[in-house]
Amino acid sequence: MFVTVLLLLVALSAQGGHSEETEEAQRPGHVSVIIVGATGDLAKKYLWQGFFQLYVNQVSSGNTFFFHGGGLSPADKGTPVLFEALKAVSCSKDVSQERCAVLKDQFLRLSQYRQLKTLEDYQELAKHIEQQLQEEGMTEAGRLFYLSVPAFAYADIAEKINSSCRPTSGAWLRVVLEKPFGHDFRSAQLLASHLGNSLKDEEMYRIDHYLGKQVVSKILPFRIENREFLDPIWNKHYIERIEIVVKETLDVTGRIPFYDQYGVIRDVLQNHLTEIMTLLTMKLPKNVSSNEEVLQNKLQIFSSLLPLAKNQAVIGQYQAYKSEVQQELNKTKDHVSLTPTFAAVLAHIDETQYEGVPILLTSGKMLDERVGYARVLFKNDMFCLQKHNGIHCKPKQIVFYFGHGDLQYPAILVSKNLFKPTLIDGDWKEVTEHTDVSVLGLSVSDYYVQTPTEQREAYAELISHILAGRKNSFISTENLLASWSLWTPLLSSLASSFPRIYPGGVDNGGLLDVRLKGRDISYNSEVVIISPDQVGGTSANNYQVMQGKFRSADMVSAWAEELVERLAVDIQEAAEAAVRESGVFHLALSGGSTPLALFHRLVLHHFSFPWRDTHVWMVDERCVPLTELESNFHSMHEHLLQHVRIPYYNIHPMPVQLNQRLCVEEDRGALQYEKELSKWVNGSSFHFVLLGVGYDGHTASLFPGSKVNEHGERLVALTESPVKPHQRMSLTFNAINRAHRVALLVMGKGKHELITQLSRVKDNLDKYPVTGVKPDPGTLIWYIDYDALLG
Ligand code: BG6
Repeated sequence: MFVTVLLLLVALSAQGGHSEETEEAQRPGHVSVIIVGATGDLAKKYLWQGFFQLYVNQVSSGNTFFFHGGGLSPADKGTPVLFEALKAVSCSKDVSQERCAVLKDQFLRLSQYRQLKTLEDYQELAKHIEQQLQEEGMTEAGRLFYLSVPAFAYADIAEKINSSCRPTSGAWLRVVLEKPFGHDFRSAQLLASHLGNSLKDEEMYRIDHYLGKQVVSKILPFRIENREFLDPIWNKHYIERIEIVVKETLDVTGRIPFYDQYGVIRDVLQNHLTEIMTLLTMKLPKNVSSNEEVLQNKLQIFSSLLPLAKNQAVIGQYQAYKSEVQQELNKTKDHVSLTPTFAAVLAHIDETQYEGVPILLTSGKMLDERVGYARVLFKNDMFCLQKHNGIHCKPKQIVFYFGHGDLQYPAILVSKNLFKPTLIDGDWKEVTEHTDVSVLGLSVSDYYVQTPTEQREAYAELISHILAGRKNSFISTENLLASWSLWTPLLSSLASSFPRIYPGGVDNGGLLDVRLKGRDISYNSEVVIISPDQVGGTSANNYQVMQGKFRSADMVSAWAEELVERLAVDIQEAAEAAVRESGVFHLALSGGSTPLALFHRLVLHHFSFPWRDTHVWMVDERCVPLTELESNFHSMHEHLLQHVRIPYYNIHPMPVQLNQRLCVEEDRGALQYEKELSKWVNGSSFHFVLLGVGYDGHTASLFPGSKVNEHGERLVALTESPVKPHQRMSLTFNAINRAHRVALLVMGKGKHELITQLSRVKDNLDKYPVTGVKPDPGTLIWYIDYDALLG
């Protein structure tokens, strides 16, 4: 059966190769396609369809094919799943039903599942291919491995391919990889070097599916075809700005374990949008088919891009993301993720041609519409005295419209007040009948519009380019590393920045509008408070704050967000009162994750907080270097101190590291802190102490069963924790209970049991140290969220 199909195919006439094909690609022969991860989502959704289309297009090319669907499951499990995926493939409109049925049948017979797990499996695969070649007396054209598996598996699979599956001499090997290609410059470099041990650069085909989008792949040809019009205006004198935009309406539920590690900059800007930026701005190659020339021109742009710093970016996060993360990553209610789901970044090219031209790259999830485009907006020096609606008064722009949005189809649009573009090639047509839509401020009838005669999926396009060896449609190692070296410094500088929270969808209103000022970008509206009405559908009751008593002290309770809002307001009021009275505010903050949401709130919403007159003290510290993630000071610095304007000398970390060792009694660190405190704080009475409570009832670093009430007059002591790191430094009850005001913040369902117990027990410092918090003559307020209070 296999023989007949092959013979049939070989007998069909060969067609001329694409002018951009490499020599290898044009040598007809047998091609083995191996999809590793053949029953995964991507393969089911796009790859099998893409390879079927390849097969249909190649049926009369003189090439023969066999498709191996590889997976980790044994053949009896994988075969039926693969069969389902294969059954779903379809032909394009121009293929008759009968012909389609024949082709589909052939494709099914030429496709087979096989387990690809161990080295032996790969050796078996190689043996099988060689046998096929021998039995049929075929010349081998090449082997195409498509790795549709997580990136961590790449290096290992590449090694197996290299050691056992290289083709016979004269035939090519192409290994296709999907992003992510690293997380930053170093990890990308490491991955590239691991892959480089097994594969040559020309054998690697890194996919960026945007390069397979019909409009994107026509950017260079369009620029070349229309050189005559574009050359004079493609520069800083004429271009107002360039915008590259991918807006999405979906959230990222289901992908959070991946997404939370990456965020929108790594997921979309570093690759898709950056590639489009290079295509729009690179010097036009003399020969668009020359991989080398195109690559060099792209690299030239990378080397001219000005470094991206923090003030060239704004980031956002849709509101529901936080709870989605908590759910999918099994985090507690107070877990805060800083991963951006929206970003707008302003790039500039340091070349005379583009000097001062802003290039805006922006993308986000949960926005008002799904649309993608690159717009080159030209300056318009027309002043229209009377006929403001005349074509010359309207925006002058070229829009590369990738699809979706109001237009609903991919197109290149040139506003009629610019020029009438030349048709790119026979695969594109001009659209003259227009529906009544407008694209970026201009009615579609005010544009010359070109669109592909047939819309094709990006993956199908790229798969045909792999066979043709058109490396321009893929990301070379140099290109990849150049892009990461642009983005990595920005990503590091944003690592601890708080994204602006947006409600999602049309409710975002103008919240994510940005303002471009010189080289900087900022949100247009300064302060953001998302009210319940903006979020929509939430009844005001849900946001009510309740006041009551807990353990005979005052209690404030609300849902977590409201509670934190209230606490932040209370702290600011206390700060303002203290500054009014004594010119200074002494605030002691505890560590752990509970206060992070509060820090977040203070940073983002309390711009008038008197930080300049505030001294920040530590309630407790872990005996680790301050630079370690576990250090309370480190986390306070990351989440609060570095974001506010507080004088350096107002910050008082606990001296846990002295004489190059940690918390040694003889170094007298606790005593030193006590002295510092007595020196600065009037009567050693803090204005405000923020405490938390642990599951075991500990507060500050005063743990059950550790004789916490034996510190006497001491204000600071070295203590022991039952969990690592065991050694701690802590304020004592003596210091805590002298404070004017103490807030005990308790949040999350996990604390419900403890809160229930605490509501019943008498003071028992040994078992529940928190019951020893009794400021006198100050006041204690419990801030307990509904989850902790009600369970
Ligand atoms: C992918 C990203 O690369 O591109 C996704 O991982 C994003 O997060 C997608 O949704 C957008 O692609 P398209 O083709 O739907 O615009």
